[in-house]
Amino acid sequence: MKKQAIGFIDSGVGGLTVVKEAIRQLPNESIYYVGDTARCPYGPRPKEQILKFTWQMTQFLLSKDIKMLVIACNTATAAALVDIKKKLAIPVIGVILPGSRSAIKSTRNNQIGVIGTEGTVKSNEYKKMIRSKDTKAMVTSLACPKFVPLVESNEYDSAIAKKVVAETLRPLKNAGLDTLILGCTHYPLLHSIIQNVMGDSVTLIDSGAETISEVSTILDYFNLAVDSRDSKNTEYNFYTTGSIQMFEPIASQWLKIDNIKIEHIKLGL
Ligand code: DGL
Repeated sequence: MKKQAIGFIDSGVGGLTVVKEAIRQLPNESIYYVGDTARCPYGPRPKEQILKFTWQMTQFLLSKDIKMLVIACNTATAAALVDIKKKLAIPVIGVILPGSRSAIKSTRNNQIGVIGTEGTVKSNEYKKMIRSKDTKAMVTSLACPKFVPLVESNEYDSAIAKKVVAETLRPLKNAGLDTLILGCTHYPLLHSIIQNVMGDSVTLIDSGAETISEVSTILDYFNLAVDSRDSKNTEYNFYTTGSIQMFEPIASQWLKIDNIKIEHIKLGL
């Protein structure tokens, strides 16, 4: 029987933080990943355009016969999850619900922060989701438009990154938060810098990592999970609309996979 992969999509390399967790929690599963690096960032783009680009990535992965789609991008989840979920026959998972759930579980003082792209913050989806589950929770959101370019340019561990993160997060420092959602899948690459700036009393929630626990449950529920006895030939295929030379070092450092298979693709032609 042909083994079907789980499809992951993101505007660039950010969704690799979700894939890393998938490789750890679901080692039997094959993964196809599309990063729309050529058109990253999605954060400042209008919702209709994000919806269109997200559909193009989805169509590409459907042509590879995926069994489940993970929208490993908060901005695309906010803009497109409802639409895509309605139209696809396979399970479709976004990152906002799992991140919200985990923040509610973590907070002790009901003061939750969310950092994300302009698109995610403007959509208010985290706040709506959290408040729909717990009206006691207070949500403070902040857009951090300078973070994604730092990650995409492989500068996420640099002195500039430390300075930019410290300056950007200043408004949240005295907001009394005990929990902060990393509401962009690029941000876990800045995890230790963000933790340093916010201090150890603030719990950081990696919404992508939380998503994989949900993926695992859904695979089992629909009887789609690969059993260890059938797990030979697990495949990881990565596709980027941008430069392989930019994508490769981040993907290999982050995922620690040798001979990573990356192909250049064009979308929307
Ligand atoms: N990684 C994406 C997210 O989770 C978006 C980054 C961008 O393209 O602006 O929101």
